[in-house]
Amino acid sequence: MKTLLKINSSIFSNNGQSSLLAERFVVAWRKANPGATVIVRDLASTPVPHLDAARFGAFTAKPEERTVEQQVTVNYSDTLIAELKAADVIVLGLPMYNFGVPSTLKAYFDHIGRANHTFKYTEKGPVGLLTGKKAYVFATRGGLYKGTPRDTQTGYVHDFLSFIGITDVKFVYAEGLAISESSKRDSIAQAHREIGYITAPRPIAA
Ligand SMILES: Cc1cc2nc3c(=O)[nH]c(=O)nc-3n(C[C@H](O)[C@H](O)[C@H](O)COP(=O)(O)O)c2cc1C
Repeated sequence: MKTLLKINSSIFSNNGQSSLLAERFVVAWRKANPGATVIVRDLASTPVPHLDAARFGAFTAKPEERTVEQQVTVNYSDTLIAELKAADVIVLGLPMYNFGVPSTLKAYFDHIGRANHTFKYTEKGPVGLLTGKKAYVFATRGGLYKGTPRDTQTGYVHDFLSFIGITDVKFVYAEGLAISESSKRDSIAQAHREIGYITAPRPIAA
């Protein structure tokens, strides 16, 4: 049975445009995968703390030397990583805020990017450990950036996911949401069509 992890990073929680697209995908995906498990991590209602020296120190302390507080921090990060490891499919709602990813998402990434847990260094360079997964990213923006050098989000999120082993990443965009009502309507309609196409049952090849 498959497991899907949905991560919302909109400050508007379930009501964000990115969350609504992510949820639309999940509803359609569920129909195609009856009995699958869906886990939701909403970074607005339960934000991940910002990484600081104390928290990073907990990650690097030897297990037998951790303080109780450090162990709590490690346990928290371990829980986030276990959730990801259990997922076959990752769905990420990704709004653009001030030309970047939501700070809550950065904090989340800072807690799952852990050496020997989600990646390891080898003589040939870093190797991601979370392989065999598929990620769908629903990117919503007020303006238009896709395919331009100002779209720093796509490269960053793709690079981070690849670094931890999630290399199969599909981006669906809804852009121009702040340009006009018609731009917003058309862009969301296009994203809905893409979701329909991605989740449509495929005929089995003979
Ligand atoms: C605090 C804030 C900052 C934003 N910054 C940008 C931006 O830099 N570029 C842009 O195109 N849109 C920007 N927007 C518009 C959002 O990308 C747009 O409203 C999108 O729908 C947000 O996704 P959400 O509804 O899932 O939160 C910003 C919106 C907010 C609330």
